[in-house]
Amino acid sequence: MKIEAAVLRGASATYAIEPVELAPPGPGQVLVRIVGAGFCHTDMLPRTPGFMARPPLITGHEGAGIVEEVGPGVTGIAPGAHVVLSFDSCGACRNCLGGHPAYCEHFLRLNLTGSGREGAGLDGDGPATDRHGQPVAARWFGQSSFATHALASARSIVEVDEDLPLELLGPLGCGVQTGAGSILLALRAGAGSSVVVFGAGGVGLSAVMAARVAGAATIVAVDLHESRLSLARELGATATVHGGDDIVARLRELTRGGTQYALDTTGNPAVISTAVDALRPTGTVGLVGSPSRPLTLSPAALTQGKNVKGILEGDAVPQLFIPQLLELWRQGRFPFDRLVRTYPLSAINEAERDSVAGTTIKPVLLPGS
Ligand SMILES: NC(=O)c1ccc[n+]([C@@H]2O[C@H](COP(=O)([O-])OP(=O)(O)OC[C@H]3O[C@@H](n4cnc5c(N)ncnc54)[C@H](O)[C@@H]3O)[C@@H](O)[C@H]2O)c1
Ligand SMILES: [Zn+2]
Ligand SMILES: [Zn+2]
Repeated sequence: MKIEAAVLRGASATYAIEPVELAPPGPGQVLVRIVGAGFCHTDMLPRTPGFMARPPLITGHEGAGIVEEVGPGVTGIAPGAHVVLSFDSCGACRNCLGGHPAYCEHFLRLNLTGSGREGAGLDGDGPATDRHGQPVAARWFGQSSFATHALASARSIVEVDEDLPLELLGPLGCGVQTGAGSILLALRAGAGSSVVVFGAGGVGLSAVMAARVAGAATIVAVDLHESRLSLARELGATATVHGGDDIVARLRELTRGGTQYALDTTGNPAVISTAVDALRPTGTVGLVGSPSRPLTLSPAALTQGKNVKGILEGDAVPQLFIPQLLELWRQGRFPFDRLVRTYPLSAINEAERDSVAGTTIKPVLLPGS
């Protein structure tokens, strides 16, 4: 079928809205009409030189929409269903079977190559072609949802109630789930605990809201933008700190001698070192930010039982966790919609610029408007 998609044609190119021919859903795939798709910082990784997914590529991995058709062998989901699209996983490896699909042994291939296959590049039999009949990678996170329609992996589908505002729900599939899951599922911060979140963007603010849900007594947000710190306070931070070189003492003071949990969403090695230093003995720092440079840590920094834990997608099972977050949203306890600003899909370049500049926390692109 003919669809319209935002195609990235070069690492430093702007997106172009183009007609694309999309194949019918194959085995294990579902055709979804996209109603809204969140922009996550991970969508910019194909701009990194040497990154495994290469243009021409349709990115977008926080889609939400309505099922139009299901492929052979897909059960339990029917046309008309309202769905959120999350990350893809194989369903058969040890980690998928063990209830940790975010650590699927095929995660990188399925989500970050753009083609779903080993290695970069396309060999011509992908599901999408441009107006010249040339292949376009359209399996980014098993969905490529910056488009009017996406061929989603059935494994990534989360069915949601029809009365929910579908256009806002896409970010639950990655950024929001990552921040909230990191606190509630991966770090398991408990009532009365202390949590410091570095970076108050889409992921960090979701972590702040989740820490409040968990009943953490002390929730500190650290960022460079005053506007983001102010929103963090509204969403549950009990204190905020402007980022910088010399904030360990302040963080230790705010957390009465060191925090039990920290979450880094900046990917900045200097910030991660600060997070380790700000931990109390036995504390844990979770890392979700895309690493910008190698991390240098003295083993001595980890004495006293300190832990560093890499986290993907909040270690969530999306089909279990996203409905839980939606229930909390209905009760007013997890107002993730406050992070969202909507744009028509045709304004995707402006949305990316606003996200990089920090003026919009979570852009959501609406292909239908
Ligand atoms: N691990 C995963 O599964 C996963 C999932 C989604 C996103 N991510 C990654 O998480 C990261 C955060 O995503 P986001 O959408 O929240 O991005 P974002 O850009 O909205 O948020 C990052 C925040 O960090 C702040 N920051 C930057 N440098 C800082 C410093 N030195 N001190 C304090 N604050 C600083 C920025 O001001 C910004 O508010 C990205 O790297 C993204 O690729 C990882
Ligand atoms: Zn797997
Ligand atoms: Zn993401």
